[in-house]
Amino acid sequence: MGWAKRGISPHARAAYLAKVGRIVHPGSDVSVRDVSAQAGPVAGKAERHHIPTMAILKIARMGHPVLSRVAEPVADPRAPEVRALVASMVETMIDANGAGLAAPQVYVPRRVVIFQAPPERMPEGVGEEEAFDHTAALTVLINPEIEILTSEIQMGWEGCLSVPGLRGLVPRYADIVYRGFGLDGQPIERRAKGFHARVVQHECDHLDGILYPQRMTDLRDLIFESEARHRM
Ligand code: NI
Repeated sequence: MGWAKRGISPHARAAYLAKVGRIVHPGSDVSVRDVSAQAGPVAGKAERHHIPTMAILKIARMGHPVLSRVAEPVADPRAPEVRALVASMVETMIDANGAGLAAPQVYVPRRVVIFQAPPERMPEGVGEEEAFDHTAALTVLINPEIEILTSEIQMGWEGCLSVPGLRGLVPRYADIVYRGFGLDGQPIERRAKGFHARVVQHECDHLDGILYPQRMTDLRDLIFESEARHRM
């Protein structure tokens, strides 16, 4: 159920958001520039030598064991090496034109994901109030947890940078709350619906060694991108 349906006024909602913490977009979001600029002492050193610490990383593909194992929690989300990892993950995701990326996809078996849910992915007819839950600017989520709020399942097409060239129709919960920590160590808690809920479930699955084809209920809906025009 959305904010509007619950009859919460914008004022009450703002108060709630202030109470639960850094939910408000884009408070807990991190831009590429932020991540790059704050890459810590390592970055400072690199700047002096004109060598950037971030890099476009190789992406593991389906079949590599790092994608099948359960990733380990991050002990300190504020650690400089976590910040450096995330900076490279952001570069890698943008370069590959992805909507999300999980650390195991770049061979780092730790519980770190990044994702974004742009307004363009929102279905038509979503009201202004509910739109908040359907979108997310670039977000870094460390040690994430998902709470499912509905039994409603939505089918939607997904791709994965670790499963290049393919698309699949995947069932996901339509309405969730996710919790975790940002690079500043502050807790993040957000409601997510639609594509926003989908991308978070997809990325968090990576942390448990699950790829989207393993969530599919009908493998006739696993297709090549180049044939997608026949289906989508
Ligand atoms: Ni993926």
